[in-house]
Amino acid sequence: MSESTNQSWGGRFSEPTDAFVARFTASVDFDQRMAQHDIQGSIAHATMLAGVGVLSEEERDVIIAGLKEISEEIARGEFEWSVALEDVHMNIEARLTAKIGITGKKLHTGRSRNDQVATDIRLYLRDEIDAIDAELTRLREGMLGLAEQEADTIMPGFTHLQSAQPVTFGHHLLAWQEMVARDQDRLRDCRVRMNVLPLGAAALAGTTFPIDRHVTSELLGFDRPTENSLDSVSDRDFAIEFTSFASLLMMHLSRMSEELVLWTSAQFDFIDLPDRFCTGSSIMPQKKNPDVPELVRGKTGRVYGHLMSLLTLMKSQPLAYNKDNQEDKEPLFDTIDTVRGSLRAFADMIPAIRAKSDNMYASASKGFATATDLADYLVRKGVAFRDAHEIVGKSVAFGIEQQRDLSEMTLAELQQFSDTIEQDVFDVLTLEGSVAARNHIGGTAPNQVRAAVQRARDALASRA
Ligand code: ARG
Repeated sequence: MSESTNQSWGGRFSEPTDAFVARFTASVDFDQRMAQHDIQGSIAHATMLAGVGVLSEEERDVIIAGLKEISEEIARGEFEWSVALEDVHMNIEARLTAKIGITGKKLHTGRSRNDQVATDIRLYLRDEIDAIDAELTRLREGMLGLAEQEADTIMPGFTHLQSAQPVTFGHHLLAWQEMVARDQDRLRDCRVRMNVLPLGAAALAGTTFPIDRHVTSELLGFDRPTENSLDSVSDRDFAIEFTSFASLLMMHLSRMSEELVLWTSAQFDFIDLPDRFCTGSSIMPQKKNPDVPELVRGKTGRVYGHLMSLLTLMKSQPLAYNKDNQEDKEPLFDTIDTVRGSLRAFADMIPAIRAKSDNMYASASKGFATATDLADYLVRKGVAFRDAHEIVGKSVAFGIEQQRDLSEMTLAELQQFSDTIEQDVFDVLTLEGSVAARNHIGGTAPNQVRAAVQRARDALASRA
């Protein structure tokens, strides 16, 4: 590593930066990830500067040609990053000057690394948001496809992880889809607030050059320039908002993961995950472990951690830019990588789930899942709900003793508990009758599941 003082700001220094301090304060190892967006921002800045007469057209053209060459060097992996040059911004600027000479030094006119980095993060994050948005759509489509396919498949619905009432597997999958749909809404909200241009704020107060921020904003695809220069260079609330979205998404994926892990166990045996999403054990030959959902469940923790890091990073920071903010990148980047990896795994895996419908059905037949249906039946025949509850409770106790479900009892046996019960009771005691009866918007009836799939597809198509 070079011992010399950084050429970009060394003018007032009388000794070189301590070698350890140079390494300690450098960010190039991680912020080089934003290199292409830094160049994109610089090209727009140079274009705007030429438009307002601060650069000549020749200077603009030489700068842009140099930046494009650097962009290719980076893409080819040939660019030599230097820790002595601290960060991505100064590495690229130094390379530009090495290539085109003195004109390269004019690029930084009317801007600062403070507004530059705030712009780069937004440009970079915006592309990542769009990629994540597409993956969310793919995941939702996969869930809807499987929900449609399994609209008639009956499984036990749980509360307290105890068998509660029968539901359809399609209905369960649509619950997942709703969670992801809200996450996608939150991501889009975050993008709206993030998509404003901080460039032009310069170090903190703006610049004395006659810049046109509307031009730069338009060139970079932002909705408008930011309103306040101090705020522009300092706040990272947009990164916190993105990480909040990511935390909620991971929370949802962890819940789905937990269910997938349970369902693939020998004890539940509700689904089969294809071998390509699982791994074996080096000692137990029979094992097929649901590693992908387990890992996604585990990765939720690091995203929550990054949210707390970013909140704490911003806490109590005085205006305007502080070096603290350099610490925003690693948590943000790792959040992006974790979310993209987890979403890719889920979007690939969900459509490949195979339901073991016979096992689901057998499980739903145990645990007196139609007890509420019997109570509702009695109420329809004029019994007060509390009395009906009592009658069914006694029937269930009898069933536990006899080791038989309600639907497996004879009419005479059921009539011991209430003479209101008649032959038509068996229509509601079947699992099919139970799910079909919940026939309203948001209910588990198979035709409602199919209608909900259609509505969700229409909503996806209208927002794509
Ligand atoms: N690497 C810095 C960051 O990530 C760029 C801005 C540096 N500005 C400064 N005044 N030192 O925040």
